[in-house]
Amino acid sequence: MTTSNPAPNPKPSKKAVKPAIVGLLSLCRPGFERECAAELERWLGELGADGYANFEKISGQVIWIGTSPKWPVTRDLVFSRQVIRLLDKKPLYFEARDRITPILTAMAGMKFSAIYLDHPDTNDGKALSDLFERLQRPLLSAAGKQEILDREATMRAHLVFIDGTSAWFGMSEPGQTLRWPMGIPRLKMPADAPSRSTLKLTEAFAYFLSPEEQKEWLREGLTAVDLGACPGGWTWQLVQHGIQVIAIDNGAMNEKLMESGLVEHFKTDGFIYRPKRPVHWLVCDMVEQPARVAELIGDWLADGAAGRAIFNLKLPMKTRLDEVMFCRDLIEGIVKKSGKKLERLEFRQLYHDREEVTGYAAVAVRPE
Ligand SMILES: C[S@@+](CC[C@H](N)C(=O)[O-])C[C@H]1O[C@@H](n2cnc3c(N)ncnc32)[C@H](O)[C@@H]1O
Repeated sequence: MTTSNPAPNPKPSKKAVKPAIVGLLSLCRPGFERECAAELERWLGELGADGYANFEKISGQVIWIGTSPKWPVTRDLVFSRQVIRLLDKKPLYFEARDRITPILTAMAGMKFSAIYLDHPDTNDGKALSDLFERLQRPLLSAAGKQEILDREATMRAHLVFIDGTSAWFGMSEPGQTLRWPMGIPRLKMPADAPSRSTLKLTEAFAYFLSPEEQKEWLREGLTAVDLGACPGGWTWQLVQHGIQVIAIDNGAMNEKLMESGLVEHFKTDGFIYRPKRPVHWLVCDMVEQPARVAELIGDWLADGAAGRAIFNLKLPMKTRLDEVMFCRDLIEGIVKKSGKKLERLEFRQLYHDREEVTGYAAVAVRPE
């Protein structure tokens, strides 16, 4: 028996555990898992990462398990809507009557500023929204009591539900994911816009341009050409910002939009038309071969006909990722040859894109 005072119990450490990342979960458009997986493997493969991608068709998600010296953020990838860093190689399983205990057990010792309940963009995923409503408050309250929830923490927890009894557990930090939950911007269709395509351009502006860039580049006094403009959803967006638009299309433009006085419509071929004076913006939504559109965008930027461009590449073919990379190289090559400097060249499969991606390219010039 010892007579000395027993050592005091060590105080539980308040320091959060920095968890190891064991892989990635990418949410994507259902039907584009193959492209999403191939892009992840390419990105990680170039860094010498060791791992493998796994997905089910039309599941809206890809799991990559392995080790890597560096992890991509969502904006690094075209076909990922949201990239979450996995903290467990297997999903968490729980019973319907108690989901909270196993979740908190998995999070023990960690600190998160928020706990996001996510799901793939499938009908089964969307059917979980009632469960999320019921679960969210008690889960946050229990996590708060156990000091897992901490406003000062940099990590946010993600639980990506597979169904009501299992979820992948991961994390992100600010800047690694898009600010929209699950990478999906909730945009309201404006009542008087001529077509739903208008939402593609709204999303493209919100995604590609920072608030400062939006102020600088979406304002009265600027000019644009819209190739493949009819019935006018993209032109309508530009007009909302006070931009003067030359709309090129053999079709008919929405009459009310033409009454704005900011639009000139020419029924001519978008591959031949060139403005008399350079414009600030070129936007292009023509349904054409992606390489043909990319070449056109490259030419406009190279010869100074436009300073920046937002364009849609329709991707009906099987080799969609390769096609996007090919188009990127094409634009890069054409602009480089002209001696101009590309300030930005990015692609993304926007939420409002279907079998297509949207590109943003800008050459280094200042507006007058
Ligand atoms: C997807 S729609 C554009 C929708 C439009 N962005 C909107 O928001 O309403 C494609 C348009 O491209 C036009 N188009 C296709 N090839 C063209 C070409 N070579 N020159 C001009 N317009 C073209 C078609 O007539 C069609 O109206």
